[in-house]
Amino acid sequence: MTTFTRADGRPVRVVPGFRDRVLGFRPSVTPRPGWTAADYERAADKKLARARRLVAEIARRHDRLDRATVLDVGCGDGITCLVLASVAVGRAVGVDLRLPLFESDATAAPARRLAELVLARLHSAGRLPTTLARLPVRFVRADATRLAFPDACFDVLVSRSAMEHIAPVERALAEMARVVRPRGVIHLRVDPYFWLRGCHKRGLVDIPWAHARLSLADFRRFVAESEGAAMAATRCGRLQTLNRLTLGQWRAVIEAGPFEVLEWTEEPSAFAVALLEEYPEVGDSLADGVEPRDLVDGRLEIWLRVTGP
Ligand SMILES: C[S@@+](CC[C@H](N)C(=O)[O-])C[C@H]1O[C@@H](n2cnc3c(N)ncnc32)[C@H](O)[C@@H]1O
Repeated sequence: MTTFTRADGRPVRVVPGFRDRVLGFRPSVTPRPGWTAADYERAADKKLARARRLVAEIARRHDRLDRATVLDVGCGDGITCLVLASVAVGRAVGVDLRLPLFESDATAAPARRLAELVLARLHSAGRLPTTLARLPVRFVRADATRLAFPDACFDVLVSRSAMEHIAPVERALAEMARVVRPRGVIHLRVDPYFWLRGCHKRGLVDIPWAHARLSLADFRRFVAESEGAAMAATRCGRLQTLNRLTLGQWRAVIEAGPFEVLEWTEEPSAFAVALLEEYPEVGDSLADGVEPRDLVDGRLEIWLRVTGP
């Protein structure tokens, strides 16, 4: 197949190898089967450096971080919380629907191994349960749209690469505003949906920016024709779990909440910009409301101050 015809009759070019090219651009820091010891060491270094940068960023906006209580929403592997509790804050709490550190499935052992490597860089090496028991950190399995915390009980809230997954986003933001004290600081890092990789791994196919150009029905039909009905259901299902918001829609939904926007940074990815130059036709066939900046801005960093409940 060299072109795929959308339901509105418009042809879009199929580019064999596009998906692999995009996936190969950035090595993942989430453990994969077959990772070597060196892969774990590299990921631990990267995760620790990232968490340290975050600590420095929070410290610039919040005094006396050493006394602060910090909530990490969608904490995933919990490493940010472990670093916060080790080097910076009074208390760190991580919430997530799933906590790989404590699960008993296939994600648990790799998550624990990575956490141990990060902690070994911060403390004298020890067993994970012992180190966890010593640190001012707690993890809670919870849905970010229904948090079982009292009002105004956190000074700072961070949520990295999670808001694009949490729905409804308005409900999550309302819960964030509720549990953070007035004048407290919130940091959101969002992977915007319409940029090159914003549809995440399963949404990537051999049509450049298919997720920004095809309706979900067209996307499903393309994958069914190229990879079969089962894969079409998988890839489409993944897209449907994500908050498919443009950068403008993120701004509107956040401005509708009780927040003062302290900083709003949209950062273009040089890789996405270069690819868009290779496939200029992408810009002529965008879904309604999607703007060129949505295609290339791969990082949305937001700092908010809570103005009221
Ligand atoms: C891409 S991971 C990011 C993890 C971590 N913040 C990081 O930066 O490595 C997104 C996380 O959001 C979590 N998540 C998705 N929906 C959620 C919800 N409704 N409530 C809490 N966590 C949720 C997922 O389970 C997942 O761990």
